[in-house]
Parts: sequence; structure tokens; C-alpha cells
Amino acid sequence: MKPILYNHALVVGGSGMLSAASLHLANSGVITSVVGRDPSKIRKMQEHSFVFPGKIIPVISDYTDIPQFIIDVIMTQESYGPVTLAVVWMHDTARTAPHHLAKLLNKHNCKFVHVLGSSLGESENKRLELEKQFSEFEKIDYQQVILGHQIENGESRWLTDLEISDGVVEAIISEEKMITVGRPKPREERP
Ligand SMILES: NC(=O)c1ccc[n+]([C@@H]2O[C@H](COP(=O)([O-])OP(=O)(O)OC[C@H]3O[C@@H](n4cnc5c(N)ncnc54)[C@H](OP(=O)(O)O)[C@@H]3O)[C@@H](O)[C@H]2O)c1
Repeated sequence: MKPILYNHALVVGGSGMLSAASLHLANSGVITSVVGRDPSKIRKMQEHSFVFPGKIIPVISDYTDIPQFIIDVIMTQESYGPVTLAVVWMHDTARTAPHHLAKLLNKHNCKFVHVLGSSLGESENKRLELEKQFSEFEKIDYQQVILGHQIENGESRWLTDLEISDGVVEAIISEEKMITVGRPKPREERP
């Protein structure tokens, strides 16, 4: 597997289904700022960050409060240096937050891995529209990870947290602009 050569990663929503991806980064020696509201979830992850202890940095922030969220990211950059890899899983409760974050990170070269739910995978127009919006940031290397579903023993099911994290780690080391995890289509096949 290719090594992960980033100094400072920011993983938004990194204490939920992406916790294994956050830990993979930290255990590869990358300073990993994990954004979430509940400090106890991130504390638990710190206990599993055993290869390079101290690499998981909690950023306790609610991304629906966009101005405060941006200040919180600025503060972690002031302490640990520019974010060179952002992995972003945000709910639609903060539709414009990814764009505000990219605008902030555009001051330095940064890979921006945007994790998107199944509904985005279905709508090529919406996906392309997002790509277009992010193309205004010349220092952002924008990549989309589309989550789908799995077929197992003839039954359809949603992806597990581990499958999602593994897919995201694969995307981080890939130069493809769009990666799908599982099967994004067709809608009728979804669980
Ligand atoms: N296509 C698929 O198969 C698919 C797609 C999506 C999800 N899923 C599954 O569905 C399950 C639940 O998904 P989920 O969306 O709840 O994801 P999750 O990743 O399990 O949880 C959300 C993450 O975002 C953080 N978060 C949520 N709201 C936040 C806010 N306002 N500000 C800051 N951080 C916030 C949470 O931490 P805090 O709560 O501490 O803030 C947590 O780290 C997952 O276990 C996943 O496996 C499957």
C-alpha cells in the first residue's frame, strides 16, 4: 500500500463511521484533527492511537455553526500547521459548510476528500455541480467518494463503518477524482 504522506489531516465527522480511517491516518504518523461535538468519542479513539500516540487531536466543534467551526479549524491549523488533507463527511444540516471549509483551506495545497451519500451517487448533475463549485479553489485537489450499498447472499444492505473507512483510505491514496464504495446504483436495488 502507498504510504500516506500528509503532515496534518482534518477529518470532519471523523469520530463516527470514519473513525477507522482517522485511526489509520494517526497510526501512519499523520497529525489527525478529528472534528465532532462529543469529546468522549474522540477520547476513545485516542486510546486506540497506539503506534504514534498523541496524533489524534480533538476539535470539538459543531459544523452547523459555520463561523465558529471555521475559527476552530483556524485554531487547529495555528497549533499543528496547515491542513494538507481534509476528509469531509457532513450532513445536509450544514449544506454550505464544505464550501466554506474549502475556501479557508485554499491558502495552501490541500487534498479535499468529500464523502457523499447514496443520493448524490444517483444524481450525476448534482455531483458535477459540486465538482464545478469546488473547481474555483485552485489549491484544492477535490475528490469525491460516493457511498453505495452492498449485495450479500442475494440481499441488499448498507455499507458497514469499516467498509466505508477502508474505501476512504483507498481514496486518499488514489489520484482518481471520483471513487465509489460499494454499488451506487440502481436505486431499486437499495436496502
Ligand atoms: N451508503 C451507505 O451505506 C451509508 C451512508 C451513510 C451512512 N451509513 C451508515 O449509517 C450510519 C450512521 O451514519 P451517520 O451519518 O450518523 O455517520 P457517523 O459517521 O456514524 O456519525 C456522524 C459523525 O459526524 C459527527 N457529527 C455529526 N453532526 C455533527 C455536527 N453538527 N458537528 C460536528 N460533527 C458532527 C459525529 O460526531 P458527534 O456526534 O460527536 O458530533 C460523528 O463523528 C453509519 O454507521 C454508516 O455505516 C451508510
